[in-house]
Amino acid sequence: MTSPEYLKEQIQLVDAALDRVVPVETESPHSIHKAMRYSLFAGGKRVRPMLCMEAARAVGLRVAGVETAACALELIHTYSLIHDDLPALDNDDLRRGRPTNHKVFGEAMAILAGDSLLTLAFQVLAQLPGVDGGTRAALVAELAAASGTVEGMIAGQVRDIEGEKLEPTPERLDAIHRAKTGALLTASVRLGGLYAGATEEQLAALTAYGNRVGLAFQIVDDLLDVEESSATLGKTAGKDAEQSKITFPAVYGLAESRRMAAEELGAAHASLLIFGERAARLHDLADFIVRRKA
Ligand code: IPE
Ligand code: IPE
Ligand code: MG
Ligand code: MG
Ligand code: MG
Repeated sequence: MTSPEYLKEQIQLVDAALDRVVPVETESPHSIHKAMRYSLFAGGKRVRPMLCMEAARAVGLRVAGVETAACALELIHTYSLIHDDLPALDNDDLRRGRPTNHKVFGEAMAILAGDSLLTLAFQVLAQLPGVDGGTRAALVAELAAASGTVEGMIAGQVRDIEGEKLEPTPERLDAIHRAKTGALLTASVRLGGLYAGATEEQLAALTAYGNRVGLAFQIVDDLLDVEESSATLGKTAGKDAEQSKITFPAVYGLAESRRMAAEELGAAHASLLIFGERAARLHDLADFIVRRKA
């Protein structure tokens, strides 16, 4: 079983790598580097980088330095959160237990902070030490697709926003969640696998695991929005119903949503079979994702 100490250690590893790749606040223009670091170092769970690192460890051929590749996922994720919170999108005041980026730095700087984290993610991958050019290009292509408009994160955000005015149906819900959250979570394990030199069979297993864990992750995010307080979440609770979002609880109710998350979790575990003991941490991460309270 993965201990809280282990998770803390992994978060520290990711944070140290992020600190190395993000310009210091004293770098000009100070305001943008301050805004980028404000949201990055506000205490995120670092689930995506952890998935990337543990996928690489399950494959095992090349693991050293994977935390730098993993940073690219957190850079994209944090950018997506800053933009998700903007008044034009979810209009949120609270994120990671702090006032949202635009509340502190203003909308213009929050848009630019998101833009710059997005740009930096690809710079990090393009300059990644210790891997060949072909691998770097594969990582860049993978992350770009997962963040993009064809079944990637932006596709999901577009459907999420447009969905506010539409009837919640199972089909719409599935299309939103797989893209808005699932794509980047699947990319997280695939990046780790590609970094570590996974075989086609291993990549397929990691992809199946990522798809299941990705869907479970967003089901739980929707459940927590209903069931937990803003103080526990570090973000505004009850926001989805208020904004008529198409969510799992809205379409299926709480009990069925919980059951579906458990079903995805079971399938995530099953997809790791070919790795045997080497996937112990990926099993634990899947459990953590479904059982978390924030
Ligand atoms: C929240 O993601 C946004 C979604 C994609 C559901 P996380 O729950 O991973 O947020 P942090 O990174 O821990 O703040
Ligand atoms: C956002 O989904 C997913 C992103 C791509 C950022 P949500 O809007 O549900 O995320 P929270 O609940 O605000 O963290
Ligand atoms: Mg949103
Ligand atoms: Mg939101
Ligand atoms: Mg949410």
